[in-house]
Amino acid sequence: MKKLEQLYEGKAKKVFATDDPELVIVEYKDDATAFNGEKRGTIVGKGVINNKMTNYFMRLLSESGIPTHFVRELSDRETLVRRVDIVPLEVIVRNIAAGSFSKRYGVEEGRVLGRPTLEFSYKNDALGDPLINAYHAEALSLATPEEIARITEYAFKINDILRDFLTQCGITLVDFKLEFGKTSSGEIILADEISPDTCRFWDAKTGEKLDKDRFRQDLGNVEGAYREMARRVLG
Ligand code: TMP
Ligand code: ASP
Repeated sequence: MKKLEQLYEGKAKKVFATDDPELVIVEYKDDATAFNGEKRGTIVGKGVINNKMTNYFMRLLSESGIPTHFVRELSDRETLVRRVDIVPLEVIVRNIAAGSFSKRYGVEEGRVLGRPTLEFSYKNDALGDPLINAYHAEALSLATPEEIARITEYAFKINDILRDFLTQCGITLVDFKLEFGKTSSGEIILADEISPDTCRFWDAKTGEKLDKDRFRQDLGNVEGAYREMARRVLG
């Protein structure tokens, strides 16, 4: 598989073309940002951990019937994935109140929610990824009703699978963000990453934060938290 020109550079990853128009290579960086890029830093080793953890979760999910973009891990930081058009919605699933949910609704962090919840943000950095509902997403042609129904179904199923797996690792899955893509044939598949950058992981016993909140909130030992998550998930 030939790595050709760079197609895109995001805050945490780069995407490269290959000699197959249906496949691209994702390369994970150690760069970290928060608050829509206002806070910047480096988390040494993060790219390797996020690459390997994402791939582990993608395999686990695809074994449970979730279609994903994952094709093959190429190196510590590089993975071959199916080329998709990203649906411009951040799909956020929550089991426990934290982050923007706690702030918006005045709910103390750590409150177990009465049911898993789902929300969408419009993926638009210039607007700061505002919260958006399904009617608005359809009205703006960001996704069709059928696509939103499929994404919702997958998101809750992914929550069940990840929660069960992480429980066995001694980790509480607080919340996470997913992105879906559309293949050239119109199929909706899971894309992007599932990592400590995009999930809240708490130690089930102590409640210690083992995710990017350590960077966002200047809690220290950011690298150690990523390494601990890698140890728990990847062994
Ligand atoms: P929030 O509580 O800040 O809305 O975050 C919800 C989840 O989404 C949390 O697990 C972190 C993740 N997330 C991202 O992956 N990217 C983002 O840009 C933001 C704001 C949150
Ligand atoms: N990645 C996001 C940003 O820099 C924010 C976050 O993950 O908190 O905009």
